[in-house]
Amino acid sequence: TVRYSLLIILAGTGYVSYSLYRERNPKTQIPQTETFLNGSPKKNLVILGTGWGSVSLLKNLDTSEYNVTVVSPRNYFLFTPLLPCIPVGTVNNKSIVEPIRAIMRRTKGVVNYLEAEATDIDPVDRKIQIKVMSGNEIRDISYDYLVLGIGAQSTTFNIPGVYENAFFMKEISDAERIRSKFVENIEKASLLERGDPERRRLLSFVVVGGGPTGVEFAAELRDYIDQDLKKWVPEISSEAQVSLIEALPNILNMFDKRLVDYTEQTVTKANIDLRLNHMVKEVNKDSISANVKGEKVEIPFGLLVWATGNAPMDLSVKLMNSLAAQTEKRGLLINEKLQLLGAEDSIFALGDCTFHKGLFPTAQVAHQEGEYLARMFKELSKIDQLKWELNEAVGNPKVIKKLNFKITRLNAQIKDFHYRHMGTLAYIGADKAVVDVQLRNKRYSLQGSPFAFWFWRSAYLSMCISIRTRILVTLDWIKIFFLGRDSSV
Ligand code: NAI
Repeated sequence: TVRYSLLIILAGTGYVSYSLYRERNPKTQIPQTETFLNGSPKKNLVILGTGWGSVSLLKNLDTSEYNVTVVSPRNYFLFTPLLPCIPVGTVNNKSIVEPIRAIMRRTKGVVNYLEAEATDIDPVDRKIQIKVMSGNEIRDISYDYLVLGIGAQSTTFNIPGVYENAFFMKEISDAERIRSKFVENIEKASLLERGDPERRRLLSFVVVGGGPTGVEFAAELRDYIDQDLKKWVPEISSEAQVSLIEALPNILNMFDKRLVDYTEQTVTKANIDLRLNHMVKEVNKDSISANVKGEKVEIPFGLLVWATGNAPMDLSVKLMNSLAAQTEKRGLLINEKLQLLGAEDSIFALGDCTFHKGLFPTAQVAHQEGEYLARMFKELSKIDQLKWELNEAVGNPKVIKKLNFKITRLNAQIKDFHYRHMGTLAYIGADKAVVDVQLRNKRYSLQGSPFAFWFWRSAYLSMCISIRTRILVTLDWIKIFFLGRDSSV
């Protein structure tokens, strides 16, 4: 047994070392060229965004078959499932980001990156207007194929005062701002006398939205207060209050009912002030005003985190307004092949910027859509080369017939996108997680047990984009186990 164990450890170490070496020393890439060997021109493929969908496409795409340009204001991929851990220092912010250049460098062909924001799209002339991040220069770039993976922004439902007084939880910069405010409040509160209402307000941490983002962040905050702050500033920790506000009668509505009940019991036991049926109607500088069964309730806060879901980006709204086929306000409409309705021949969309009936805007969906599009572009490249040959074969009916047959066959090979739901996971605090897994059309639930917690951690680790990020996240978890969290700024 000892010999076998040693062998397995040795093989594992060898595999990890080799993979790390490959990650750090990518193979030589094929430079971008204008044409294929047969003379057919390569198409310009522009990918907007560096989120789950775009990066999944990029990782799986044969980038030597297109002139690929990635355009995004963010030059890194962010592992969003662990974002709620950042403000309290459970995981370091650098551990959950991967530079886009590192991802691009590992693809087969050379990829071009522009740190810019797309501000307009002209589907007729196949042009995108971009604003370069450094210097605000406006430029036009042309595309043959465009992939929209631009994500979504936090929704406020036009509730007054949210933008001015609340923090969102979408980007690393949001998490860092929350961390600063949280630490600032603790320091300010400790300067005030016990019993001072201002001290109580400063230590009231309110999260609005009982979806996975809100629940996971409230849980992380409570963990930090109970496990770390309690040791270093006990008098503050006993007064700190975490509230989770939800408009509906339940939180985590996409989960199985049993898991919802369990989560509600667990967060309440963990001393999170769970307020269900509280529809926030207004946000003031120091308090929120909620409607509870027709009554107005005022809840003071020192820090307010807003997590009520997604709304389309401004660029998506512009596109929806310019295409008659786009009749949905919640996101871009696509067909089963992820082609944008109204611009099916040249624009594709994936991830949170789209609206699918029955599909939640999750990382899992965007990831599978990216894989699907990479396979589709493989087929499209072959079809485009044949179409070019078809143009060259004018006056040769035999060749034309053969090429047409091949094109029809290849087109038929492009199957529709089908989502395979693997499950949903959420961390609910105090080393507990809820897991709702789907295996062979059967649903299995795990709640609270150490197994559920380790399953949640292993699943998130396996979803990390690179071995580097996997190692960094593991080291962060080991570090907080032995040394606790560092939430200083
Ligand atoms: P969400 O849309 O899942 O939840 C937002 C919650 O806010 C809802 O329960 C809604 O009833 C509540 N709400 C809306 N307006 C409100 C108001 N005025 N007052 C009080 N409550 C209000 O949003 P979330 O958590 O940001 O997630 C966005 C998407 O990302 C979802 O599809 C979610 O499934 C996915 N996601 C999944 C994760 C996971 O599987 N672990 C983690 C994070 C996000």
